[in-house]
Amino acid sequence: MKFTQLCYLPVWYLKNVIFRKHGPLQTVLFVTDYCNLKCKHCFEMGHQCKEMKSIDKIREELIYAHSMGSRFLDLEGGEPTIYRYTDENGRTYDINDVIALAKECGFNSVTITTNAQMPFEWVKADFVWVSLDGFREYHDAVRGEGAFAKLEENIRRYHELAKDEKGRPRRLGANIAVNNINKDSVRDTLMYVKDSPYLDSIAVNFHTPYPGTEELMLSMEDRCRIIDEVIELKKAGCPVQNSVSGLKIMKRRGFKKNCWISNFIITDGTRFRACPGETLGICDDCGFCMAGEMYAVMHLKPDTLIAGMKLRL
Ligand SMILES: C[S@@+](CC[C@H](N)C(=O)[O-])C[C@H]1O[C@@H](n2cnc3c(N)ncnc32)[C@H](O)[C@@H]1O
Repeated sequence: MKFTQLCYLPVWYLKNVIFRKHGPLQTVLFVTDYCNLKCKHCFEMGHQCKEMKSIDKIREELIYAHSMGSRFLDLEGGEPTIYRYTDENGRTYDINDVIALAKECGFNSVTITTNAQMPFEWVKADFVWVSLDGFREYHDAVRGEGAFAKLEENIRRYHELAKDEKGRPRRLGANIAVNNINKDSVRDTLMYVKDSPYLDSIAVNFHTPYPGTEELMLSMEDRCRIIDEVIELKKAGCPVQNSVSGLKIMKRRGFKKNCWISNFIITDGTRFRACPGETLGICDDCGFCMAGEMYAVMHLKPDTLIAGMKLRL
């Protein structure tokens, strides 16, 4: 991120937090609902395999989000790396065209989350997260037989082939959603990331009970126990992206959310000013630790501000 882009952050904070003109800093844009997996914890809309958003629609949505003040983009799906759209002139667009378009529209940084089931070293996002829902058989129990082996092969490829502007291997983060299937694998997963030559950090999230997936949600007792374990592992040197302040807030059910910091535009084009979980009435049980991080940012917790900067720079 350039210095001028960095200067936008205090300006945004002043306008949106101090003067309460609530508008997004980040946009979560769903580009497709096509997916090559059918994970047990995923919402139904995540793998319907019906819609590739047109590039014109994506351009319109990016211009809209940017005009609202958003400068960080996270591309989601479905599986964003399988995004392909062919226009009336026969030109086919992929996720790199969406990333280039976002930069043209003025976004400072574009991130993506992938299931890493296919090679993805060609993806030009500023930062890539791979979903790692447990160590070996735990990951496969959530995501399907053989998913962990494919992930391992493709993160190794990414490390070997994807280079930054100085020719160094690009950073790669993991993301775990802890649920009732993989809760006993958290320590092994964090240790796996710590020892991995290919992954440099892991973001910890908890299951969010989308309709049809409620039984995978952890009890509050389990969640608190796992948060304590994650904090202990972080203090012992595991590269956990979450800040300690953000994690501690996730132990409190029903804390005040500031989810207007991210706006969401889903695959059918519906625009939400905040997380769509609000319309489902599941905010009190939300497991996305970004909610805790946002709360801590609003309260200017130094460790959270540093964790955020580390990720974005
Ligand atoms: C919906 S997936 C889409 C991107 C890509 N296909 C993938 O699997 O990473 C994005 C992230 O949301 C997480 N996720 C899906 N359902 C969830 C739930 N109910 N609670 C918490 N995280 C969830 C996934 O584990 C993944 O890391």
